[in-house]
Order: sequence, then structure tokens, then C-alpha cells
Amino acid sequence: MDSRNPSTAADTARMQAWLAAMPDNTSVADFVPGPSIERLDLTFDIAALRDSVHRALGVSDYQGEGFHALPLTRRPGETTASANDLSGRFYLRPGDTYEEVAREEIVDESAFSEFVPEFADTYFEHVHRELTARFPIGRMRVLMKEPFTCNSWHRDPEPRLHIPIHTNPGSLFIVNHHCTHLPADGSVYFTDTRGYHTALNGGDAPRVRLSRSLAWRRASGRHASQRRMTMPFRLSDDQIVAYNADGFLIVRKLFDDEETGLLRRTMEEDPAIAEHSLIRPDQEGFGTKSAL
Ligand SMILES: [Fe+2]
Repeated sequence: MDSRNPSTAADTARMQAWLAAMPDNTSVADFVPGPSIERLDLTFDIAALRDSVHRALGVSDYQGEGFHALPLTRRPGETTASANDLSGRFYLRPGDTYEEVAREEIVDESAFSEFVPEFADTYFEHVHRELTARFPIGRMRVLMKEPFTCNSWHRDPEPRLHIPIHTNPGSLFIVNHHCTHLPADGSVYFTDTRGYHTALNGGDAPRVRLSRSLAWRRASGRHASQRRMTMPFRLSDDQIVAYNADGFLIVRKLFDDEETGLLRRTMEEDPAIAEHSLIRPDQEGFGTKSAL
């Protein structure tokens, strides 16, 4: 007997119990709510959703390499979606160190406030209106997953709403330790994709679902703009004294990483800011960029 395992009698007894009971092979085709995966009361017409997919693919196509996303919302007037817009920031632990890394850039979900005009008058527009009336807005996309494929095991900055449109019992959604099938019957599912998750299609037909990001931010449970409105930053007496003495004040961690990322992106990409930017070279050849 292996000296590391002097007695495995308990394993033998448990094995007998395991083998005596057959696994449940029926309910796995159903939805089972659990931590971070819930079904809403709200429902939509599944036939109309399928018709909308058919009509939308008549005028446009999925975008993104290995991702297959059809954006239904956009920043007002912006006609093309960047690769980053299609995926957005996500976090994963890709290697055997188990270290978490960030990929792609933060997307400001609330900026995607315009329904893409090409899909006006489809049932998707009705869905967009109904969801926007109830929940914080975010990107709305049709996502297709090819047979026998899965997403990375990752987490997102925001939760998602999902409306399965074409699916099969082998299409599963997993958040942390909970795994379930989401039937395509017009139901709307909340998935807390702030937890680690993946979606896989183990069936032999494409799975199509409508995905709606919720414009949520970590620090307070509200979107950042709402947080600033409802939780104003106030200087302490010591900070006021320091400002009066020095003429400046440094406040560390005033913005979280996501907010800083949005500010950086705005500074880099907003043409109105670029027009008024100056770059002052320093002695080492680097530049300091200022916007006035
Ligand atoms: Fe995700």
C-alpha cells in the first residue's frame, strides 16, 4: 500500500455509494437558477426574435474574429465598431501561475445609447426599448457561437442580460461554480458576469443569443457618472490647509482603474481635446502632453 495513503477504506465505501446511484440525465436540458444566473419575469416573443435575426443578417453580418458579434447599439453617429468595442475589457488567468491579467480596454457601456438604424422596425428595436426602459443601458449585441466551441474562462466589468434565440441542450452557461442551460423560449436571463464565466456550445448547430450589457460600475453599484452625482468628493480640513499652503493638492485613488481608463481613452481619442493639446518636450526627449 502507498505509504502516503495508509488507509483508503472510506474511499472504497464512498465509491460503492456513488456507483449505486445513476446521475440525473434529464433535468440538464432545463434551466436551473443558481448563484449569479437568474431568470427575469420579463419575456419576449421568441418567433419575432428569430425573425429579427433572419432580417438583421440580411442587411449585415457578424463581426469579430472567433467572436461573431452583430452590434445592435452604437455610440451616437458612429458607424463602425472597433475590435475593442466588440469585446471590451475582460480579465482572465491564462497560465499556470493562476495570475489574473486584463485584456482589451474598458468600454463605457452607457455611451452605446443609439440603436443601429439599419435594424429599425425589427423586433430588436422593441426589445431595446423595453430593456432600456427598465435597466441601465449598455451595449446590445447578437452573439453567435459555432458548434463545439467555448469562450475563454474570464470575468467582465459588467453583468449581462441574455435572451437565447437559437440554442440546443448542449449550450451551457457557467458562472463560477454554477452551470446551466438557458432555453430559448423568450426568457431573459441575468448572468452576473462579474464572476468568472464561460459560454459553450456542445451541440452541433450554431447558438445565437441577444446579449445586453448592464452599465454598472464596481465602486458603488452605480454607474460612475451617477456615483459622482450622488457621492460628491469633499475636501477634508487638512486637505484645504495643504492646498492653501502649497497651491496644489494630490488626491490619490480619487478615480478607480476603470474610471482612469475611460479618462485616458477620452484624452487620447477625443478630437476636441486633441485640437487643444500641447506637447512639451523634456530634456530626455520625452513629451508631456497638456490640454487647455
Ligand atoms: Fe464575458
